Amino acid sequence: MFVPKLDNRSDLESSRNSGLWQCSICAHGNDERHISCELCGVLRDLSLYFNNALEVEDRAKRRNKHYSVSVLARSLFSPSSTMSKDVIFSDGFKASRNATGNTHATLDVLHKTYMACKGRRINIVPFKFDTPSPDDMVTTGLKSSRNFRNDVCIAGKKAVDSDNCVIEKGTTTDPSSLVKLDEIGEGSSSSSFVVDCHNETLVLDHELQHLSLERKPKKSKAKIQKPVSFSLYKPESWMLQHEDEDTPRQLNLAIVGHVDSGKSTLCGRLLHALGRISKKQMHKYDKEAKEKGKGSFAYAWAMDESADERERGITMTVGVAYFNTKNYHVVLLDSPGHKDFVPNMISGTTQSDAAVLVIDASIGSFEAGMGVNGIGQTKEHSQLIRSFGVDNLIVAVNKMDLVEYSKERFNFIKSQLGIFLRSCGYKESAITWVPLSAMANENLMTAASDTRLSSWYDGNCLLKAIDTLPPPHCDVLKPLRLPICDVFSSQMLGQVAICGKVETGAIRSGSKVLIMPSGELATVKIIERDSSRCKLARAGDNIAIGLQGIDPSHVMSGGVVCHPDYPVPVASSLELKILVLDITVPILVGLQFELHIHHAKVSASMVKILSLLEHKSGKASKKIPRFLTARQTAVIEVSLKQKNQIVLLPITRLLFL
Ligand code: GTP
Ligand code: MG
Repeated sequence: MFVPKLDNRSDLESSRNSGLWQCSICAHGNDERHISCELCGVLRDLSLYFNNALEVEDRAKRRNKHYSVSVLARSLFSPSSTMSKDVIFSDGFKASRNATGNTHATLDVLHKTYMACKGRRINIVPFKFDTPSPDDMVTTGLKSSRNFRNDVCIAGKKAVDSDNCVIEKGTTTDPSSLVKLDEIGEGSSSSSFVVDCHNETLVLDHELQHLSLERKPKKSKAKIQKPVSFSLYKPESWMLQHEDEDTPRQLNLAIVGHVDSGKSTLCGRLLHALGRISKKQMHKYDKEAKEKGKGSFAYAWAMDESADERERGITMTVGVAYFNTKNYHVVLLDSPGHKDFVPNMISGTTQSDAAVLVIDASIGSFEAGMGVNGIGQTKEHSQLIRSFGVDNLIVAVNKMDLVEYSKERFNFIKSQLGIFLRSCGYKESAITWVPLSAMANENLMTAASDTRLSSWYDGNCLLKAIDTLPPPHCDVLKPLRLPICDVFSSQMLGQVAICGKVETGAIRSGSKVLIMPSGELATVKIIERDSSRCKLARAGDNIAIGLQGIDPSHVMSGGVVCHPDYPVPVASSLELKILVLDITVPILVGLQFELHIHHAKVSASMVKILSLLEHKSGKASKKIPRFLTARQTAVIEVSLKQKNQIVLLPITRLLFL
């Protein structure tokens, strides 16, 4: 029968002598070599283990095996009998040093001593597990400092609630909402900081006192103030364009048209002739294109930069390039012509002020673009850019070299396409027709030199036609509206950068702006135009800006940067007046589609047809149809899948696909 022994010490001694030791908890007999009980895991005799560890070689091995035991743990758990010497601190606090050289005493004594000593700032309270320890805070702080800018402080989880102060991962600071850690310490008993009296930790303590935490916004949408009436808006003087400013006006020029009509070649040719592409670079494009068996695409390579585009010989994304004319700073937006990339074409050209519609004059190609064998992109692109509000159009009848610069062919194209363009709503006077050859550099920069063309054409060359386009309407007198085309981070602009075109108003570095639909405020840190810094930008300018004081998750493409007092409205359902294009299948109530509003793309459905509008008068007809067919105009009700995500501009261009 097993009889438990009452004297553990003597039992331990006897066990040691026999090469076994008995666990003081479960009484299991363990091998001498084990430092913890095989059965219950309790340590054998800590004092023996820790204090002799440095002296005995085989025990040193065990110490190495347990190197993860921290110095603090060793000093705390070593029994008092092994203390080598008492230490008296200047405060009168008595502690002891053990064999490892660490100072230790019970927390109670430590606490009492320091609490009695009013001259020190150290406030030791029992550790709370529901709040982060200073170690946690430093670790998370270090982690977050790698991800965030200097002005963003500590990241972590919920910390001190009593002061309405929350340290949230991923949130950024608003200078006005900063709270210092020492303020929290005074006001809140729940803060728990254990501070040793070594110099190093006091420095850490000092550092901690100067770290700032973020005050939790009371309500996330509190920053959206009640919109002020637009009539009360008065632009500041710096926003207005002054006569003496010699910066040329920006003109966003979309280059659109059927696939392979020569859009990229035309852009490349212009850029080369204007010195935007050096001879050396052009020679490189030429050589590389020839090596790949695509010699005729050498100029197009200036715009088609990706390997895929070059390999396939088609543009897939919108290429952007710049050049200056006498009157304008032109931003070229070279669109893809292939029908598969129409969505890319849309996102690029929604920003355009005017467009160049490129036509392939060669026999059969013009016809293909007009949709003789299906839907051609000449028609589709013309309709799309018209629906984006583009009024002025240059029709560049390209590849005239392939038709011997024939006047008859040019006139045929002009008459056929002219009818269609007028049906889209373009005014005759707003269309300029220019016959040219991008490949042969005929009628691009200067008047035609080939007599086959100059004999019958005496109008403007392409460059002159661009330079004489009417100036785009720029609304600097209205509050700021900048639809976000893209969100990114860059070395120059920082963690949160956006790009887009200023639709109305003006913006300058240092401006406070409101980001919709998140309703968060941010500060404009840097503005870049054509990759170079500028102090301000006005309506019509394509810019990239670096934002400060906002979390990237609150900024999304499709959103709008606006004046803090004049936020754009946010909608979940819309009433739209629509024109149905050439469709083959009727549109029924319940139709699910993708809605494009400036740079936003959302899933939506048509919930109701409210009225059908008469073509000539625009009046609502009495009969409400159950479906819509080609060329009908109607007012419909649309419901958006994501609620309150779509922001509307007064000049919103809508499109559904
Ligand atoms: P996508 O972007 O894919 O729609 O094509 P694109 O409209 O940009 O056409 P691109 O510039 O890639 O040219 C297509 C082909 O047409 C190339 O082989 C060019 O060399 C050729 N091309 C372009 N302009 C002319 C021209 O004026 N004359 C002749 N003969 N060929 C041309
Ligand atoms: Mg192209």
